[in-house]
Amino acid sequence: MAKQEDLFKNVVSHAKEYGYIFQSSEIYDGLSAVYDYAQNGVELKKNIRDYWWKSMVQMHENIVGIDAAIFMHPTTWKASGHVDAFNDPLIDNKDSKKRYRADVLIEDYAEKLNQKAQKEIEKARGRFGEAFDEEQFVTTNERVKGYLDQKNAILQRMARGLESGDLADVKALIEELEIACPDSGSKNWTEVRQFNLMFGTKLGASADTAMDLYLRPETAQGIFVNFLNVQKTGRMKIPFGIAQTGKAFRNEIVARQFIFRMREFEQMEMQFFVKPGEEMKYYEYWKETRLKWHLSLGLGKENYRFHDHEKLAHYANAAADIEFNFPFGFKELEGIHSRTDFDLKAHEEFSGKKMQYFDTEENKNYTPYVVETSVGLDRMFLAVFSNSLKEETLEDGSTRTVLQLPSVLAPTKAAVLPLIKRDGLPELAKEIIEDLKWDFNVAYDEKDAVGRRYRRQDALGTPFCITVDHQTLEDKTVTIRHRDSMQQDRVAIADLRKIISEDVSMRNWLMKM
Ligand code: GAP
Repeated sequence: MAKQEDLFKNVVSHAKEYGYIFQSSEIYDGLSAVYDYAQNGVELKKNIRDYWWKSMVQMHENIVGIDAAIFMHPTTWKASGHVDAFNDPLIDNKDSKKRYRADVLIEDYAEKLNQKAQKEIEKARGRFGEAFDEEQFVTTNERVKGYLDQKNAILQRMARGLESGDLADVKALIEELEIACPDSGSKNWTEVRQFNLMFGTKLGASADTAMDLYLRPETAQGIFVNFLNVQKTGRMKIPFGIAQTGKAFRNEIVARQFIFRMREFEQMEMQFFVKPGEEMKYYEYWKETRLKWHLSLGLGKENYRFHDHEKLAHYANAAADIEFNFPFGFKELEGIHSRTDFDLKAHEEFSGKKMQYFDTEENKNYTPYVVETSVGLDRMFLAVFSNSLKEETLEDGSTRTVLQLPSVLAPTKAAVLPLIKRDGLPELAKEIIEDLKWDFNVAYDEKDAVGRRYRRQDALGTPFCITVDHQTLEDKTVTIRHRDSMQQDRVAIADLRKIISEDVSMRNWLMKM
């Protein structure tokens, strides 16, 4: 655990030291759970967004993008159910005065049971070797069965309590499980209460005419209210999708873990409109397709898992998370939800406008069902960044810090370094930059010894360093150094564009899907 915490601390401090992420308004001691993306962070974030947009929008003929406003008519949120149901169940510990999400306390308890079961499974795998049949073991070993049955019973009871609004039973469950406050160890709890997560604001000049607005808590509603506009103007035929990326805001009470849970964050969402009855087929399709997208980045298959929801959101008939192994354990990275026709029907009812699709093949109107994929851009950033940060011990016993970002996402693709600051080498290095910058984000660095410059670029995550030396003046070749292998090759300046392009092109990375 201490190791995990250290790793996470390193992630946070590296992100600051190398210009990726700063605390918001730091000179005023910051604002809790709000962060700014710095000069390198903004490039990495943009590259992740572009990678998603390419794969989801531009590679699908039947998916288009929009960019809806953050402010929406307030009735939107009444219709979507957010005014009444976008709540977190909160509980306070009377001794420590700390506030927690009741569902998170219970889920953490259940996860501990799961971990106990997994430990037994791993032990048995070690004992039985190749012959190990996990499914049989899990269903027959009394101890493992006990842990898993207990875990499931707890989660089901919690889901029942939350869905039916029986918060007294949620509290009773916390007490029966003897869950203690992680801060003080006390079991002296208040009642469980619901707390709405939307931020309110006002539109208008005078207090009496001002209209109450909300900052959108998800981007999806901007898609739903534009469903018919896009379908008609784009002549879209079902099944089709509408995608967008943009800011969302939630008044998170338990906001911690750096950019994992923020009050202002960015989502990348896609609503896929399908014929009623076909939603499960597309739900499975998008689960699989989205996992493949994540895997294409090469962060390790073992770092992803699906988690099927017991407790469904107010709009869903099936939902799963893609969880990622963050430095603090497996947590939700992306959600895939089968949202039924809930949103379109609700908007039809509240606006009085028809939100139906006319199916020319079936010659009838219907309200489409929706399968949604929703991934947090900031969480993607954290997954990529934390997984890429490595401390390596080299052959000579020295260590280096290297940020092994997938090169397609790296903020700077190459740094061009004159070996020394004279003899025309800086001028030649700048000429190379002038040419490469048409295709890639490239940097120039002439400060310090070249070895130190390599280390700095390693820590920044730059996949290539190109060194210009005296031989370059004679034969127009340079040294190209690869970040991960540290291998150096002598290549012609004329070949640089091709070499870099092959390594960083979205085409080559997305082809791995
Ligand atoms: N439209 C569906 C929706 O908003 P969600 O599961 O609440 O579903 C989707 O959110 C994704 O948005 C999450 O999987 C997560 O990656 C990201 N997300 C949600 N709340 C967040 C927060 N407070 N900070 C950062 N990312 C968040």
